[in-house]
Amino acid sequence: MAASLIGGLINAEIPASDITVTEPDERRRQVLVEQYGINTTADNNATLSCEIIVLAVKPQLLKQVCQQLNTTPQDQHLFISIAAGVKSTDINRWLNDNQAIVRCMPNTPALLQCGASGLYANEFVNHSQKQQAEKIMQAVGIVIWVDDEDQLNAVTAVSGSGPAYFFLMMEAMQQAGESLGLDASITRQLVLQTALGAARMATESDSSAGELREMVTSKGGTTERAIMSFQSADYNKIVLDALRAANDRSISLADELGSD
Ligand SMILES: NC(=O)c1ccc[n+]([C@@H]2O[C@H](COP(=O)([O-])OP(=O)(O)OC[C@H]3O[C@@H](n4cnc5c(N)ncnc54)[C@H](OP(=O)(O)O)[C@@H]3O)[C@@H](O)[C@H]2O)c1
Repeated sequence: MAASLIGGLINAEIPASDITVTEPDERRRQVLVEQYGINTTADNNATLSCEIIVLAVKPQLLKQVCQQLNTTPQDQHLFISIAAGVKSTDINRWLNDNQAIVRCMPNTPALLQCGASGLYANEFVNHSQKQQAEKIMQAVGIVIWVDDEDQLNAVTAVSGSGPAYFFLMMEAMQQAGESLGLDASITRQLVLQTALGAARMATESDSSAGELREMVTSKGGTTERAIMSFQSADYNKIVLDALRAANDRSISLADELGSD
């Protein structure tokens, strides 16, 4: 995730000399220098000379990393956490309080700079810091702000975990195409191009997904039969239950990660 952000920032013409990465592994530091020409260090506290600090370690490591930083309540940094599930109140406590924190939930298409990130700012973040956080996360895709941190659980359920739902649909269509007698590689090409074409039509059109679906569903035709089959299995409820399960898991993960 951090490498995607660095790539996105360099593409957005942020000077490499303005970016410092802390990375414990010397070989990986070397790769980052060769690939991006950025500054690297093994010392997390060296980042305290920077205005904006992005926390991009695994959620289970975040507490330890924050507590090792020599922050004080008087500091003026902006922290951006991309760690899934860890609440800003917990990060603030681990950083010794009064810290400006933007919590962010990105998703994997950020790797292609095609991500969707939900952002939440705590009470210590000022207007210009919000703009800075937005600019950084826009380097890997679109940015949506939520006013209530709890809504990041729903963002996680919709877009954070969302790519996997579309992959599941592609997998199911692949199996179905093969069951109907198509060659595996032909099915793969048809499924992928159809997913890409549908996503482009939905993003480039002013019509809603429902309107687009109706436009391609002629009365008495093949698509109508397929949609009726989905609806008889209560497709919308299946999706609602799945997203509710993801939302609930996001809430319980946050409780586990910030419990002390
Ligand atoms: N991947 C996703 O799709 C996705 C989506 C949403 C949110 N996120 C969030 O993004 C964060 C990063 O995920 P990721 O998949 O990019 O994880 P990752 O590949 O494990 O990257 C974490 C990086 O942090 C480094 N690191 C480990 N310990 C450190 C320490 N004490 N101080 C400084 N750096 C340290 C790791 O270095 P070594 O490898 O050398 O240990 C590694 O380069 C996670 O919190 C995750 O929840 C990821």
